[in-house]
Amino acid sequence: MNPFKKFNEWFNQAKKHYPFDHTAFALSTCHKNKPHVRMVLLKKIQADGYIFFTNIESNKGRQFMSNKNLSMCFYWESLNKQIRISGRGSIIDSVSSDKYFSSRPVGSQIGAWASNQSNEIKSRKSLMNKYTSFEKKYKKNNIPRPKYWVGIKISPSEFEFWQQGKFRMHKREVYYLTKSKWQKKILSP
Ligand SMILES: Cc1cc2nc3c(=O)[nH]c(=O)nc-3n(C[C@H](O)[C@H](O)[C@H](O)COP(=O)(O)O)c2cc1C
Repeated sequence: MNPFKKFNEWFNQAKKHYPFDHTAFALSTCHKNKPHVRMVLLKKIQADGYIFFTNIESNKGRQFMSNKNLSMCFYWESLNKQIRISGRGSIIDSVSSDKYFSSRPVGSQIGAWASNQSNEIKSRKSLMNKYTSFEKKYKKNNIPRPKYWVGIKISPSEFEFWQQGKFRMHKREVYYLTKSKWQKKILSP
């Protein structure tokens, strides 16, 4: 089976049965041999990759710019399933980022202007003042996308589908690319 197809099957199952946000995943970056991880949301599924949005000037953005290898991990507890993906990231075209940005709630658009994500701030109050000043500036219509707010597409080179089994006899299916062809192997739990 094509791993993208299998991903869609599991993702759709999670959408139906997972009580929380099934789009949340742990995103890993690696910078100077030091790994970093945090949660983000999967916003778009394409035939050959997965897109999330972030501030490219954040810590993760800077780490990504120095090393384009990324990995993702989804865990849906009520399904007893995990999917791990690793691949290369690339910044999507600005028109697609504009389109997604404009579909976000106005408050989130203003928030993107007010937050220099991952940078130290003086106080919570100074941040909220900044939010209010951008709110006044943009008056809720046609808010432009900050240039630093972008979509990143992860093009996978490996997937692992993990399904919990009885007595820890879990099923692990790995799909990996060799010479542009997907190969499959299974691993011991
Ligand atoms: C469930 C969840 C979803 C999140 N989604 C995003 C997201 O889509 N994009 C994003 O930039 N940060 C998201 N965040 C915040 C990140 O986890 C993180 O705090 C932030 O991006 C800064 O990370 P960094 O300092 O490593 O760049 C989310 C946090 C949680 C808990």
